[in-house]
Amino acid sequence: MNAVLRAGALVLMLVASCQAVALDLTPSELAGKRLYREGLSSSDAQVSARVGAADMLVPASVVPCASCHGADGLGRAEGGVRPPVLSWQRLAMGQQLRQANGRYYPAYTEATLARAIQEGRDPGGNQLDPVMPRFVLSMADQRNLNAYLKRLADDRDPGVEEQTLRLGTLLPTQGPLAGSAKVVAAVLADRIAHINQQGGIHGRQLELVSLDPGPDQDSAEKALGQLLVQDPVFALIAPLAPALESTLATRLEQAKVPLVGAAPALADSVQIFDPLPGLREQLLSLADYAQANLALEQAVTRIVYADEAQAGLARNLEHALQDRGWSDVGAQSLNAWNGEGQAIFFLGQGDSFTQLTAALKQAGHTPYLFAVSSQVAGQLPQVPDAWSRRVFLAYPFVPGDWTASGREALSALRQRQGLDGRQGALQVSTWCALQLLTDALKRIGRDASREKLVLALESLHDVQTGLTPPLGFGPGRRQGLAGAHVVTLEMPGPVFRPVAAYRPVVEVNSP
Ligand code: HEC
Repeated sequence: MNAVLRAGALVLMLVASCQAVALDLTPSELAGKRLYREGLSSSDAQVSARVGAADMLVPASVVPCASCHGADGLGRAEGGVRPPVLSWQRLAMGQQLRQANGRYYPAYTEATLARAIQEGRDPGGNQLDPVMPRFVLSMADQRNLNAYLKRLADDRDPGVEEQTLRLGTLLPTQGPLAGSAKVVAAVLADRIAHINQQGGIHGRQLELVSLDPGPDQDSAEKALGQLLVQDPVFALIAPLAPALESTLATRLEQAKVPLVGAAPALADSVQIFDPLPGLREQLLSLADYAQANLALEQAVTRIVYADEAQAGLARNLEHALQDRGWSDVGAQSLNAWNGEGQAIFFLGQGDSFTQLTAALKQAGHTPYLFAVSSQVAGQLPQVPDAWSRRVFLAYPFVPGDWTASGREALSALRQRQGLDGRQGALQVSTWCALQLLTDALKRIGRDASREKLVLALESLHDVQTGLTPPLGFGPGRRQGLAGAHVVTLEMPGPVFRPVAAYRPVVEVNSP
């Protein structure tokens, strides 16, 4: 089953990458791009450049345009004389006088552009700073380069401007998730304001576009399209739109837009980086604990799910447990379940969990119960006393993970934003999502592309958040934590007792 799901995801990815629209460049523009990015000519001849005040001759491949002006043509913030933005729009369009580094000059033409690149003089006759090399170009090279400079602005990822980097999210303003959305919005606004006050990231201010996904899948798809296609952002951060559960991964892959935030169950998408473990990994942490400490793998075990949408996940878990040596496991919908089982893994929201414990209590039956804290947290005070030390919960983080500075930073944020301890897990996961995204953005430098962002996210390891175990991703790894702490409930109370610390779940494949 697992293999089938993975194969399905792979097919989707292949389809998606074929559909993705790459910028169509003519052969001449492509040759210009190579010259711009790598300093290589389309002919066999080597391109040279004279550098510095002493006119030292070096291969252009040592000083390609992109090394100073950026692959995106937006220049770099660091250094003394700033390489100007190289968009055709700014250089050549319109009649007004323009200025860069204190020089004033009229619009460039193809001929004056060639002169700037080859001789270091602008259309006003001003000498350019000698940091800008003088390139020795054939006519064909110069033609190709001009052709590409006209397309350069289209050849960069959307959402990146000279002064800003635009992120997007989906947060409902009405309905059952509006309260949670407010919490996410507050954490994002607070952190982004802080980053911008510090000067932004590589000289760019972060901008957040927040759209309302509306009441249903249609409206959510529309809002998503706005962020991915109509008015695209660079990346998505922490959206709350469960209506997109089944389509989000495919749409992100088509648009090649990365997302840092909660992933749909079993999404397995290259574009989605989830700071915290999914339901699957959390339930497997519980299973590993139960196997090692309660010796339950021979017990009659049922994976009971309240919501049809989680049937696939329940089946997946059934097979994962079988692969781990559990002998009598079955996935069952809560409605069809006859109450049997000595160990119950529960998938569903809190009210169904209460329904389940009430029914079991009435039947005089107290099997071991395993559930994920984020799903059932609100209902734990209702768990009957008979389940003392027989309910086990997965928590991605526990108070013991909080450092003094992490605790302080979170409580300062709560105070500024009028938040309290409710929805603490959501506050922390949003905080972590933004931290991972901004850490990766810092790593890629000013020359930002989505492709680089994905690679940078993959290269994050041991990220200290002060609020969770260290987070990290990897080439095939899209969850910041691949498992959870195990906590049991002691009655009366309930008192929460951690019984096993976080450890990444190890995948086991049946022979
Ligand atoms: C070593 C860094 C460096 C490299 C490599 C470089 N440039 Fe520049 N470039 C600069 C700097 C710095 C300036 C600004 C000079 C000034 O304003 O006096 C500049 C200015 C320019 C200008 C003038 C822009 C204006 O607004 O007047 C153009 C056009 C330009 N570069 C194109 C290129 C092209 C095309 C290449 C590659 C073939 C290239 N540059 C390679 C650093 C570089």
